[in-house]
Amino acid sequence: MSLVTSKHLLLNALKGKYAVGAFNANNLEMIQAIIEAATIEKAPVIVQFSQGAINYAGIFAIKSMVGAMAKYNSIPIVLHFDHGRTVEQNIKCLNSGFTSLMFDGSDLSFTENINQSKILTQIAHFYKIPVELELGKVLYQGVDNNEIINTLTNPYQVKEFIYKTKADSLAVAVGSVHSQCSSETQLDIDRLKEISKEIPEVPLVLHGSSGVDENSIRDAIANGICKVNVGTCLIKRFSESVKNYIQLNPDVIDPRKYLNAGKEEMKDEVRKKIRLFGSSKIIK
Ligand code: G3H
Ligand code: ZN
Repeated sequence: MSLVTSKHLLLNALKGKYAVGAFNANNLEMIQAIIEAATIEKAPVIVQFSQGAINYAGIFAIKSMVGAMAKYNSIPIVLHFDHGRTVEQNIKCLNSGFTSLMFDGSDLSFTENINQSKILTQIAHFYKIPVELELGKVLYQGVDNNEIINTLTNPYQVKEFIYKTKADSLAVAVGSVHSQCSSETQLDIDRLKEISKEIPEVPLVLHGSSGVDENSIRDAIANGICKVNVGTCLIKRFSESVKNYIQLNPDVIDPRKYLNAGKEEMKDEVRKKIRLFGSSKIIK
């Protein structure tokens, strides 16, 4: 089938109390790993690219690869732009055939975040493309606890933010941090409950999931998280496997062989995540 948008996928997840996995990719083998894993698990899936990944692989190559794989597949596949920092970057993705967007205004003031977000949602909605926004800020590894606490999403701001921006989904800061490898972080589930209570009809998004404890992820999904972003733990398993393969087979020069080792390892990780998120066997 053709690429689908994330709109109904996330609303169905909200109703069904599961989450759709949104997996970051950078190259052909990573896209294959994600789509093959989701196909085996019969799960809807979001393949997402950061601006850095787009700079590396090329926006049209990405659209062509993911679009072609979706066409010959029966599971719903979304092509999502992750952490778009400007409206312009998002418009380029929209024009190139991405079926889901994100404007990350987390460095802006509340008012400026609303103003810029609104510009994008108005344009994207005209083309029926949904937009994820961020309120609060999910930080990157290396920050201390105080910084994390200071950037958590304020539950008392979410209603106004959604009302004014018309976001289709909302990335919330509830204790996770990007780029962590050990899964030990406990999320602030009470805060998440308060956010969900304010905007029960809006699918919530968890960023920085690689570092979060599995039970905390389950609790988060039971309390409104409908999209879980996964990046670091996938890259880690992919790269470790490639390095290991080359170490064991120093004479192999065929990239298909060592990249395939990375792909198979990553596929296994994506399948585990899909089962954790409860989205396995959603497609009949
Ligand atoms: O937007 C991407 C995700 O939030 C990935 O986070 O690399 O910590 O898993 P992660
Ligand atoms: Zn993120």
